Amino acid sequence: MRLGPIAAATAFATLAAACSPSQPAADPAAADQASTAAAPTATPEISDEEKLKLLASLPAPYNAADLANGEAKFALCQSCHTITPGGANMTGPNLHGVFGKKAGTGNADFKYSDAVKNAGFVWDGPHLDQWLEKPQTFLPGTKMTFAGIKNPKDRTDLIAYLMVETGHGQK
Ligand code: HEC
Repeated sequence: MRLGPIAAATAFATLAAACSPSQPAADPAAADQASTAAAPTATPEISDEEKLKLLASLPAPYNAADLANGEAKFALCQSCHTITPGGANMTGPNLHGVFGKKAGTGNADFKYSDAVKNAGFVWDGPHLDQWLEKPQTFLPGTKMTFAGIKNPKDRTDLIAYLMVETGHGQK
């Protein structure tokens, strides 16, 4: 019984060590981050390694997509859309968290067209694929003035990139 508290303290220290981030002492940036975690401008960055893990967890065919090509294709969207959490609405709405949301409901303060508001489906890979092929044909009357992406592989890569960057599968 007398050794009890010591054993408990040791166990606690071991547990605490096990719970620390992977590079606790060596990485001054991590320590710095911990003390400034509440800074309002801090954007949660996920590492490339985590992105590849997320990619692998996506439904087919997105799990085998080329993220670098997807990121390159996102240049076509960037003039109108942000994808970071809480990013601004521009000509188009912020797209963070768009997967799993009903079309035209993602952003309460964005004025969607009736075409998108009344579409009635939930955004997933296949719907986004049709949308990005030719928005005006898929939802006539939309105000997204974008010609479309003809190459199916480019669409798949871009959709996978969006899934990884916008929190697909997270609630
Ligand atoms: C010229 C500006 C413009 C470009 C470029 C553009 N969009 Fe849009 N996007 C819009 C607008 C405007 C809307 C709202 C459409 C509506 O309400 O009819 C929209 C809507 C969307 C929606 C529906 C969002 C929701 O909440 O339902 C998605 C998804 C989307 N865009 C993805 C993309 C992707 C991916 C690209 C790049 C390939 C892209 N857009 C390029 C302007 C643009």
